Amino acid sequence: MSAIKPVTISPSILNCDIANLTSELNKIRNADFAHVDVMDNHFVPNLTWGLPVVEAVIAQQILPVDAHLMIADPDRWAPAYAEAGSASVTFHAEAAHAPIRLARELRRLGAKAGLGLKPTTDIHDYVDLLTEFDMILVMTVEPGFGGQAFLESQLAKIRRVREAANSRQIDLAIQVDGGISQANITLAAEAGADVFVAGSAVFRAEDAYAEVETLRALANGCQH
Ligand code: DX5
Ligand code: ZN
Repeated sequence: MSAIKPVTISPSILNCDIANLTSELNKIRNADFAHVDVMDNHFVPNLTWGLPVVEAVIAQQILPVDAHLMIADPDRWAPAYAEAGSASVTFHAEAAHAPIRLARELRRLGAKAGLGLKPTTDIHDYVDLLTEFDMILVMTVEPGFGGQAFLESQLAKIRRVREAANSRQIDLAIQVDGGISQANITLAAEAGADVFVAGSAVFRAEDAYAEVETLRALANGCQH
């Protein structure tokens, strides 16, 4: 059993009104992080934004940035996101050439290091490397787009990651990202996730601030 620890809410700004970045970030000022999805149209079939937008979010000083890099060759590109001042930088296991070297570089630059796993990627190959990371991101949709349906099939993976961390006594954050809403956040929390990304659930809500509070309360209710 893990110790009782408040959960972390990291709304994705993927579907916010990016032309009004300041007011959109202010809507979610009660969150813990702003999750910024970087997509390069190579690793995923969609193109969003890169370092300048991450720098702009950081410069607002409203929320720390949780950068999610859905990009090919993160070995080449990820360190700049740490240098820019992202609180955490998550790159994908499927894309990294030397994940250990990269994670160490991100930490050396002052960021938390996150490892992302697509739905078909298991944790198995990484269980002995967990101390190299601060966070494992279990994708609960195929990465690339907001507004997709949560994949319940990923709950078993969340449990496996939590068990692997607990059995090695590693203090590891487990992030879930994709289709998270009031309907499923408790399932993910019960399985062992403690960092919750929600994009459309927050930014399509009438009151984003209230939605963050509701998601936080639901997830905290499941901590054991
Ligand atoms: C998907 C992104 C997510 C996602 C979140 O590739 O990593 O951050 O857009 O949006 P929702 O919550 O709408 O799935
Ligand atoms: Zn994301």
